[in-house]
Amino acid sequence: MNTHPTIDYQNLYSQAEALLDLNTVDKIAKMANLSAWLMQNFNFHWVGFYRVMDEQLVLGPFQGPIACYSIDYGKGVCGTAWKTKTIQNVADVHQFPGHIACSAYSNSELVVPCFRGDDVFAVLDIDSTDFNAFSPELENFVERLSKLI
Ligand code: SME
Repeated sequence: MNTHPTIDYQNLYSQAEALLDLNTVDKIAKMANLSAWLMQNFNFHWVGFYRVMDEQLVLGPFQGPIACYSIDYGKGVCGTAWKTKTIQNVADVHQFPGHIACSAYSNSELVVPCFRGDDVFAVLDIDSTDFNAFSPELENFVERLSKLI
């Protein structure tokens, strides 16, 4: 597993906090900059948000290759995170029943639900070309970042 042993998560978190705590309260603007910031720092294959709009997740701000526009409730890794309200850390997406392959290069995936109160308003989705790319430390870090939106 890639544990990123040299990564100073606390320092990175402080940077992200400063980036997202500036004068904007607009969630889409924050999603856009958090996606770019994550991509710059981690060079993932794909980083972005799907927003809950009525009965679907709809593609929001992202960095990386073009992606599916919408995902149904409970479908794929993202829809499962939305439905179960739990983080999905998938070491091998090819083993995940119903995985939606927006990109053939993705091998592992982390999806973190974003909450307003008890409701999920978006999911933060990260794809890697590596298998098993998301260590417990990295998962925890991304979960903390998701709360900054
Ligand atoms: N793989 C996701 C779909 C979104 S893309 O990875 C950008 C899923 O199974 O929900």
